[in-house]
Amino acid sequence: MAGQEDLFKKIISHSKEYGFIYPSSEIYDGLSAVYDYGVYGVELKNNIKQYWWKAMTQMHENIVGIDSAIFMHPKIWKASGHVDAFNDPLIDNKDSKNRYRADQLVEGYMEKLEEKANKEVKKAAKRFGEDFDEAMYRETNPRVVRYTEQKNEIAGRLASLLTEGDLEGLKALIEELEIACPASGSRNWTDVRQFNLMFSTQLGVIGGEESKLYLRPETAQGIFVNFLNVQKTSRQKLPFGIAQIGKAFRNEIVARQFIFRMREFEQMEMQFFVPPGTEMEWYDYWKVERMKWHKALGTPEDKLRFHDHDNLAHYANAAVDVEFEFPFGFRELEGIHSRTDFDLRQHQELSGKKLMYFDPERNESYIPFVVETSIGCDRMFLSVLSQAYTEEAVSDGKGGSSERTVLKIPAPLAPVKCAILPLVKNKEELTEKAKTIFNNLKFAFACQYDDKDAIGRRYRRQDAIGTPYCVTVDFESLDDQCVTIRERDSLIQERVPISEVEGIIAKRVDMRTLLNS
Ligand code: GAP
Repeated sequence: MAGQEDLFKKIISHSKEYGFIYPSSEIYDGLSAVYDYGVYGVELKNNIKQYWWKAMTQMHENIVGIDSAIFMHPKIWKASGHVDAFNDPLIDNKDSKNRYRADQLVEGYMEKLEEKANKEVKKAAKRFGEDFDEAMYRETNPRVVRYTEQKNEIAGRLASLLTEGDLEGLKALIEELEIACPASGSRNWTDVRQFNLMFSTQLGVIGGEESKLYLRPETAQGIFVNFLNVQKTSRQKLPFGIAQIGKAFRNEIVARQFIFRMREFEQMEMQFFVPPGTEMEWYDYWKVERMKWHKALGTPEDKLRFHDHDNLAHYANAAVDVEFEFPFGFRELEGIHSRTDFDLRQHQELSGKKLMYFDPERNESYIPFVVETSIGCDRMFLSVLSQAYTEEAVSDGKGGSSERTVLKIPAPLAPVKCAILPLVKNKEELTEKAKTIFNNLKFAFACQYDDKDAIGRRYRRQDAIGTPYCVTVDFESLDDQCVTIRERDSLIQERVPISEVEGIIAKRVDMRTLLNS
């Protein structure tokens, strides 16, 4: 675990040093849980968004996009249930004065039980070697069985307390499990209270409830209230989807783990409108599709898993998370939710406007059901970075080796696709030639020209920002009109004619390789 914590710290400092993510308002000591994307961060983030957008819209004839406003009529949030039910249970420790999410304190306790079980399994695996049957051991070893049963029993109790909104029960559970404040070590807790996560502001200059506005906590509502506009203008028939990428805001009680839980973040959401009764079919379809999207990035099987929700949100009749193994453990990366007709029905009721669809095949009008896929762009960014960050020894070509830090970002997502490097900087013929190549390639993809420092240092700089290809222009290039392409991960170098460089690299960094797999 210490190794993983260490890795996470390294990723955070690498992100800042190499221009991926800066703490917001840093010269004023920062603003809690708010971050800015830097020079390479913005490129990577844009590429992630493009991968999602193309996969969802361009690859599906029946999915179209919108970009709705962040400010929306305040009644929208009443109708959606967010005013009354978008709460987290908070609890304070009276000694440290620290504030916690009560459910997360219990989840932390459950994680410790899981860790204890995993530790036993690991010890046994070491003891039994190759013959070890992990599944059998988990089922039969009394200690592992006890930890697992205890964890499952607590998970069940927590889910029903949250579903019933039983705050007294939640406090009683914290006391029963003797959970102590990580800061003070004491068990001197306040009662559990509900805390609404929406930020509010006001419209114009006059205060009061009438002019109160909320910063949207999800982009989905902008899609629901535009459902009929989009259906009519795009002439789509059910089933069809509407996709959107945009900012969302939540006043998280405990915002932590870098860009994993932020107060201002970005979502990539798609609402898929389907005839009632077919929603579970589509729910299964989207589970498969979304997992395929993640795996196309080369993410190993064992780093991704599904986790069914124990506690359903107020709008859902089924929900599952796609979890990724971040350096701090498996956590939610994306949610897939069957939202029934809850949102459209609520909006129809509160607005007084019909939100029905006439189905020519069924010859009837109805409120569509909705299956949603919702992924945080920032969490996706963190998952790409966590996977890409690698420290390794590389041969120096003279029998020795040196350490390098390289971001093995999938080539189509890399912020810079190709760096053009003249071997030395003080030979005008070389720099001229390299600049000509750069000026041609820059029309095809994001390129960088760099002639500062020795070639080895320049390679390291490109490795550190994840550039998949470096094109080196050397003295021979002047005669044979060829350059060397160095591949970031394999370090293989190939000599190719200058006239073929664009075609070779364009093919390898094309997003098609992801969309097609
Ligand atoms: N429209 C459904 C919805 O918003 P959610 O599970 O609350 O569902 C969807 O959020 C996704 O948004 C999550 O899977 C996560 O990736 C991202 N997300 C949620 N809260 C976040 C936060 N505070 N910081 C960063 N990403 C967040």
